[in-house]
Amino acid sequence: MPYATMPGHWLFGNFTQFQENPLALFSTARNYGDMVRLRFVYSYNYLLLHPDLIHEVLVAKAASVSKDRFIKNSLGVFIGQGLTMNEGESWKRQRKLIQPAFHAQRIARYADMMVQHTQAMITHWQNNNVHDIGQDMIRLTSGITSQTLFGTDISHEAKNIMALMDELQLLFRERTQTPAYPLWLPTDHNRRVKALTTKIDALVLGMVKARRISGEIDRGDLLSMLLMAQDDDGSGMDERQVRDETVTLFLAGNDTTYNALLWVWYLLSQNPAAEAKLQAELAAVLGGRLPTMADLPRLPYLEMIIKETLRLYPSAWAFVREATSDVEIGGMTFHKGATFTVSPYATHHDPRFFPQPEKFMPERFSAENEPTIPKYAYFPFGGGPRVCIGNAFAMMEMKLIVATIAQHFTLALASGHRVELEAYISLRPKYGMKMVVQERLNEKQPQPILV
Ligand code: HEM
Repeated sequence: MPYATMPGHWLFGNFTQFQENPLALFSTARNYGDMVRLRFVYSYNYLLLHPDLIHEVLVAKAASVSKDRFIKNSLGVFIGQGLTMNEGESWKRQRKLIQPAFHAQRIARYADMMVQHTQAMITHWQNNNVHDIGQDMIRLTSGITSQTLFGTDISHEAKNIMALMDELQLLFRERTQTPAYPLWLPTDHNRRVKALTTKIDALVLGMVKARRISGEIDRGDLLSMLLMAQDDDGSGMDERQVRDETVTLFLAGNDTTYNALLWVWYLLSQNPAAEAKLQAELAAVLGGRLPTMADLPRLPYLEMIIKETLRLYPSAWAFVREATSDVEIGGMTFHKGATFTVSPYATHHDPRFFPQPEKFMPERFSAENEPTIPKYAYFPFGGGPRVCIGNAFAMMEMKLIVATIAQHFTLALASGHRVELEAYISLRPKYGMKMVVQERLNEKQPQPILV
């Protein structure tokens, strides 16, 4: 399949379009073909928009590609050699060591705790108050992640963590948009990167130290597994690797999940019929009680809502691969070093696979309709060997959080609040999400007596 060329500036190519609005660039590229060559000043990148091509690069030819140099230079400085950045034998080893922490039976044990955290949060909510839901969701997901994976609740640090994440996103963006000078050069940007990584290290290594001092290494959480992990040859992970994996999981797990939750609340607020249907399902299955892991298979509409949210607003809106040897994609041979981008955002909005793509229609994911979606037309968690390790964890967490909150509150967009998409590390609402939390009258609660 020959590729199409995306028109652009004679010198910068598509660089400024990418800087201004990468989502618009990738979506417009769809009009030119399924494989579109983009140019960023002097380097080329092949955007793969068709599910067959996406399958080819993520799954079939996975052995001939790696994460790209660009992402390693930009995100790698913050998260080091954690799972998302690692390659080859070292990646294989780490994935094998970490995978058991995400097995179904293991994450099922976290369910009650996720619900308790959510319940504890909403006991402080007051009817008709306006909330920055981003603050609430990040507090919740960071509390849950730190508790489940590291055995400590650091949600009291939520403001701090949010500030760190904001700074990280800002610096990451700067690194992707300006030449990334070697870290040893004392530029203002590099100084800020160092200050940030020092703060992240302090937070994470603090947890590791606290665990070592406590002497109770095995608490059955992820940190225990990292600290105890031993390879076939008996060697374990050094402190640096534990730090990198911890930061990776914390960042990969939080930013994606809390942004996805923000979009769930937004979409429900804009689609009252879907909200009503969800309420009916929750009432029928839970009748006002807290959800458990065992309830989830009986809440199919809840799952459909979350899947449709991740279709419209996939947190990981694009990712890149680099050929590690000559590789054939779409019938064409590319040389070592060629880079390929896949964009869940662009493909999820392709009308060939999702008619009326801008419309929120959870029914696309009903038991009847979902199997008709072509494989890899929908891939919010990626695919192939590097598929998201936290996929099931995130789905369970989002379902339990939404089921717990939606039974007690309806979230309405604050009047005048502007919602605009922004493609940062995750897809986020540019101006946050200000919402009014409206208490629902629970039939199980005593009704007010009218005199
Ligand atoms: C809505 C939530 C989430 C979304 C949309 C999401 C999406 C993704 C995607 C698309 C990838 C593959 C990237 C690529 O191939 O380059 C990925 C990888 C990864 N995710 Fe997630 N993720 C989510 C939640 C989580 C959670 C909760 C965790 C952990 C607690 C997690 C940990 C990871 C890790 C460690 C990787 C790298 C895996 C590897 O390279 O072996 N993610 N995620």
